[in-house]
Amino acid sequence: MQQHLTIVKHPLVQHKLTLMREKDASTAVFRQLLREISQLLAYEVTHELPMTTREIDTPMQKMHAPVLAGRKLALISILRAGNGLLDGMLELIPSARVGFVGLYRDEATLQPVQYYFKVPDQLDKRLVIVVDPMLATGNSSAAAVDLLKQAGATDIRFLCLLAAPEGVARMKEAHPDVPIVTASLDEALDEKGYILPGLGDAGDRMFGTK
Ligand code: URA
Repeated sequence: MQQHLTIVKHPLVQHKLTLMREKDASTAVFRQLLREISQLLAYEVTHELPMTTREIDTPMQKMHAPVLAGRKLALISILRAGNGLLDGMLELIPSARVGFVGLYRDEATLQPVQYYFKVPDQLDKRLVIVVDPMLATGNSSAAAVDLLKQAGATDIRFLCLLAAPEGVARMKEAHPDVPIVTASLDEALDEKGYILPGLGDAGDRMFGTK
């Protein structure tokens, strides 16, 4: 994966995203759409995984058939909203290893503060896909990637539903080696760091909190 930013323009992704943005979408609908969209985004973010072949027996004959190469990949959810993307991705990649990074945003400074970090071993030998629906200021995303690099990760991709230009710029400056895959590059951030037009607070919408 070479481009720094990939916007997945597939009609199904764009249609589902529009339904999710609507303020009257119920928690159940929002969650279901997020699950569906995460699988379509997972397809995109994994499309250049290294492959090898394995000899198998079909009912007809032997063949050298393609299989994924290397260690199981690692999905890293940035709590708590990352879990909404994680569930759908795990349906598509059930043997992936899973890690969690807990960062909350200090509302005054908008800077990330770490409260949890638990990731799979041998991150240096795995493709690491960080999932967080909203790339807003980019501060917590950049901090999460910093932590993962400190833990050994070298091959990292970042998957989000929406990105703000400010977040993309922050990630490009801090981690130019980390490609970003998203369903939309939105217009801006408001003064509280929310994405415009956005979809509101992704965690609240998927978990039904306020
Ligand atoms: N986090 C969210 O949940 N929504 C935003 O718009 C920005 C950050």
